Amino acid sequence: MKLSKTISAVVAVFCAVTLYSQDATIRIHDEGTGNTIPKEIYGQFSEHLGRCIYGGLWVGKDSEVPNIEGYRKDVFDALKALKVPVMRWPGGCFADDYHWMDGIGPQEQRAYISNNNWGGTLEDNSFGTHEFLNLCEMLGIEPYISGNVGSGSVEEMSDWVEYMTSDAKSSMADLRRANGREEPWKVKYFGIGNEAWGCGGNMTPEYYSDLFRRYGTYLRNYGDNRLYKVASGASDYDYNWTKVLMQNLTRKGMNGISLHYYTVIDWSRKGAATSFSDKEYYNILSKAIEVEDVLRRHIEVMDQYDPQGRVDLLLDEWGTWFEVEPGTNPGHLYQQSTMRDAMVAALSFDIFHKYTRRLKMANIAQVVNVLQSMILTDETRMVLTPTYHVFEMYNVHQDAEYLASDCISAKTKCDRKIAVPEVDVTASRKDGVVNISLVNTSLKDSRKVLVSFDSVKAFTKVASARVLTSADVHDFNDFDHPESVKPAEFKDYKFTKAGLEVTLPPCSIVCISGK
Ligand code: AHR
Repeated sequence: MKLSKTISAVVAVFCAVTLYSQDATIRIHDEGTGNTIPKEIYGQFSEHLGRCIYGGLWVGKDSEVPNIEGYRKDVFDALKALKVPVMRWPGGCFADDYHWMDGIGPQEQRAYISNNNWGGTLEDNSFGTHEFLNLCEMLGIEPYISGNVGSGSVEEMSDWVEYMTSDAKSSMADLRRANGREEPWKVKYFGIGNEAWGCGGNMTPEYYSDLFRRYGTYLRNYGDNRLYKVASGASDYDYNWTKVLMQNLTRKGMNGISLHYYTVIDWSRKGAATSFSDKEYYNILSKAIEVEDVLRRHIEVMDQYDPQGRVDLLLDEWGTWFEVEPGTNPGHLYQQSTMRDAMVAALSFDIFHKYTRRLKMANIAQVVNVLQSMILTDETRMVLTPTYHVFEMYNVHQDAEYLASDCISAKTKCDRKIAVPEVDVTASRKDGVVNISLVNTSLKDSRKVLVSFDSVKAFTKVASARVLTSADVHDFNDFDHPESVKPAEFKDYKFTKAGLEVTLPPCSIVCISGK
């Protein structure tokens, strides 16, 4: 007791002394945690919504937009560079209106429907199962299929799995072969419904639990394909939904339970994506980091019913959600992405990494042209958003060993209960290389940060360092200025006796790798 008090006092004095000359101190525990950051934390979500699929991922083979077998070449290449580990499809709310048979066979014979969730736009089903799974295969992405419980049937869902994954002689597998795909695809992640408490059927958790068991029974493993079944989980603060599903479905075929958390403060006044006050900036960051409390509380419930950790938590929808860009279809949820969104992404990752004991996947909404997208397109033009750059800079953490750290920094108060840390960090190690990502949320001030390690020789040489920042937090990339916000080489660091001293520019994200 006495010893631990003495150690705490020494640490406090050390921090006080170092903080005197620094704005923040970070101590990285390089002995390691043994915890890996699953690459699936960097997952994407593609939905038949607005121009996510049509015009975003897919233009068709006859398009004047340069394409690879119908996929936009520029978007294809950008996704390849991003190392996308997993992609969810076809929704979202769209999934519970989707009948997969509409989207197979000769394109000109496919059914066309009105996309009733998203603006009543014509959906010609030219992008269907083959187009999605082939795209995943070409890019090395693990597909995550979201099945229709709300308006579909057990038979329809069961047939879909057989169509995609069976190599047997059966009418479903033969239909796939007749449609040009001889070998079955590998499909691991399969979601049984989406937002069953809302657009996926307005159910109670008790009723949905029974449906999950019924639908799940008929989703079979063909050959060596092994399905990982995901239950449609809670939104935000609905801990009771998680509790009922954990009570009813643990050891009943549920491998994962989903969670949706959007960075929205007021659903009736979501605010503009590109114009906001300083106060609104901090409020949004505060709402984003509140996800930590939400994750912790859902995990507490899961721990209660599943102490062995058989069931994973999947945050399969997250991100900022603002008003649509002026002049665009309100049903298409098209928004710009500024440096503020980049901050939300970086701070969110720092939190997700901490909870990967239970949190095994996260899918930002959505990959192209909707909400907090990686990529925006306009006819033949494309831009990468600041959020894309965060995903690209942070992909060094994919499948790396998480290194716990202590970060002491001031916090900025805002209108919400949770104050925003000025400085934040993630450290990880892969193949002997240590990767440190740092965030300075301060809008006006640079922040001098001392990064030290438990073992003196853990990090003595920087191999690469990049920064993402911009003169103004409102900056974004548009089609006339596609490179306003992009990563640059970073040099503002030096080794001192106490560790690595880094000066972070205002509103910046820095990634440093070395040994
Ligand atoms: O991402 C947009 C929508 O938000 C999704 O379709 C739905 O699941 C959620 O409510």
